[in-house]
Amino acid sequence: MDIVDKRIVIFGGTSGIGLATTKMLSKMKAKHIYCISRNPEKLSLDNSNVELVKLDVLDENKVVSFFEKTGSYDILINAATGGERAIGPFMNMELEGYRNSFKKLWGYTNTVRFGLHQLSKDGCIVLVSGSPARKCKPGQIALASVGGAVEAFSRSIASEIMPIRINIVSPGIIDTPMVPLEGEERDDFYKKVTKDNLIPRAGKAEEVSQAILFAIQNDFITGTTIDVDGGWINS
Ligand SMILES: NC(=O)c1ccc[n+]([C@@H]2O[C@H](COP(=O)([O-])OP(=O)(O)OC[C@H]3O[C@@H](n4cnc5c(N)ncnc54)[C@H](OP(=O)(O)O)[C@@H]3O)[C@@H](O)[C@H]2O)c1
Repeated sequence: MDIVDKRIVIFGGTSGIGLATTKMLSKMKAKHIYCISRNPEKLSLDNSNVELVKLDVLDENKVVSFFEKTGSYDILINAATGGERAIGPFMNMELEGYRNSFKKLWGYTNTVRFGLHQLSKDGCIVLVSGSPARKCKPGQIALASVGGAVEAFSRSIASEIMPIRINIVSPGIIDTPMVPLEGEERDDFYKKVTKDNLIPRAGKAEEVSQAILFAIQNDFITGTTIDVDGGWINS
């Protein structure tokens, strides 16, 4: 699918991977991009084809009315984290924290469930998962569980929604505002968490948006996962 003149909806489009994707697709002459998050006012973007929309993906009624207003569109992307995720060993974890980590899945499934009716039949969906689902490292059980569920959902629904395509992009450690550290502390953190990867550095949000673009443009893939992880799986 070509990007020119397409109407695109990007949840979590105001930061990190979603923002890199918004900027890339805007430059590629999308007709209109709905760039959505809970606090879009944090972002100042004056691209004429981007409309900032305030919406919580977890609010089912608001997701429904957003799509009713949007009308027909071509591409659905969801990169919204949904909320806090629990980190650490499962046996030390508050189960509420573990359960809350699944907000990402509920946000993704809300947008697919209620966004599919208006999505064009030759349209496509890209959801962002994460490497812990492919190879879980210590302390990542909640991330792995949610990511695994997102991937299984996508693979399983692909046949139900065809000819619409759905694919997952699975990032490794990517330098985005998701990590609130600054300066030397931030650099040390990324060095430490990527040192065993085959490519020992944090990825850039733009490197992930390239894979999102591939999943949109390549009309011969559906129900699959594209890893952009610096060799995490083989590390
Ligand atoms: N960065 C990494 O290392 C990494 C690794 C693996 C997977 N991932 C996945 O990649 C995706 C993007 O991550 P990122 O690093 O780009 O994160 P980010 O910079 O924190 O951006 C997250 C985006 O999601 C929006 N968002 C969060 N909860 C929302 C909600 N309930 N409703 C609507 N919008 C919501 C945020 O805006 P508001 O706060 O304004 O709502 C923001 O625009 C996530 O699914 C994340 O799990 C990231």
